[in-house]
Amino acid sequence: MKILLTGGAGFIGSHLVRRLLARPEYQVINLDALRYSGNLANLESVQQHPRYRFIQGDICDQPLVESVIRAHQIDGVINCAAETHVDRSILDPGSFARTDVVGTGVLLEAARRAGIRRFLQVSTDEVYGSVETGTSSETDRLAPRSPYSASKAGGELLALSYWTTYQFPVVVTRGSNTYGSHQYPEKFIPLFVTNAIDAQLVPLYGDGRQCRDWLAVEDHCAGIEHAFLHGVPGTVYNLGGGNERENLAVAEMILDLLGQPKSLLRFVSDRPGHDRRYAVDCSRLRELGWKPVVSFADGLRETVRWYREHESWWRPIKSGEFKRYYEEQYRRRLEEGTACGS
Ligand code: DAU
Repeated sequence: MKILLTGGAGFIGSHLVRRLLARPEYQVINLDALRYSGNLANLESVQQHPRYRFIQGDICDQPLVESVIRAHQIDGVINCAAETHVDRSILDPGSFARTDVVGTGVLLEAARRAGIRRFLQVSTDEVYGSVETGTSSETDRLAPRSPYSASKAGGELLALSYWTTYQFPVVVTRGSNTYGSHQYPEKFIPLFVTNAIDAQLVPLYGDGRQCRDWLAVEDHCAGIEHAFLHGVPGTVYNLGGGNERENLAVAEMILDLLGQPKSLLRFVSDRPGHDRRYAVDCSRLRELGWKPVVSFADGLRETVRWYREHESWWRPIKSGEFKRYYEEQYRRRLEEGTACGS
């Protein structure tokens, strides 16, 4: 099967490229714009693979998307391309609407016109909004609260409308917070791990009691592939790890794993509109045979080990564009922040 995988140079995308290439039945065409978090170093191990091809380009570029689908006689599309970071969506909401809504629309239309047999839209559990108690199931109403989650909701609703209107066979996955190797260090876990390796302060938003359900990237990719192959067209599937933790507890685990003191913790001013908790019910995809297998203790330990052993991967990132972003996002907040226990 020839798969057009968009955003394959990013975190989840690059894990998915490697996973698919490990099976003889897939050919993978990776279309990625290589914006700030796309990184070909994530794909070094497969760049010469005979069933892999990389094309640099934007999913908003309609002629390019159409010609890639035509030239490579694509059978299925998996859309991982997205702007993904909530804090950046607060600084620059327009780029999120562009890639996550308009780009998804361009891809859907090109795929429909080409008669593609399968389209999977990678979405997020953030479309449910903050869930104070219980778990979200796929039939719950959407209540996204950040420019990021609202854009992802727009993209997936557009995808689902293609099933209703054209019987174009789309499937949507809504993944929970994902962690693992090769994750751009703006996200909570790699930011805290890399800061702690350097004995730098780690900035916890608000009271640090927000809850996330942590999903290992390998389990997330297995879920995407499972939904792609076995999902019912027009259907949404939640993907969660079943590892609900408060941010403070995760931060403490990271410091413990690195042998660093709790005095590195700083409570800083909160993210505007910060969702308190997400939690998803994954029974729908479990009934089709998928389940997460990585425990959070093992997954986090392996992740910390990976960042320790791959400083050559993350140090150039943290000293480039990221440095300006970090200054803008955190400098003042860290100066005004409070230490743990004070
Ligand atoms: O739930 C799935 C979503 O998870 C994905 O769709 C998003 O693309 C992904 O970015 C992630 O969203 P979050 O906003 O939950 O992830 P983030 O890593 O930014 O933050 C995780 C939690 O940690 C959240 O409660 C905010 C908090 N946090 C984050 C950062 C970056 C801090 O306390 N300090 C920080 O510096």
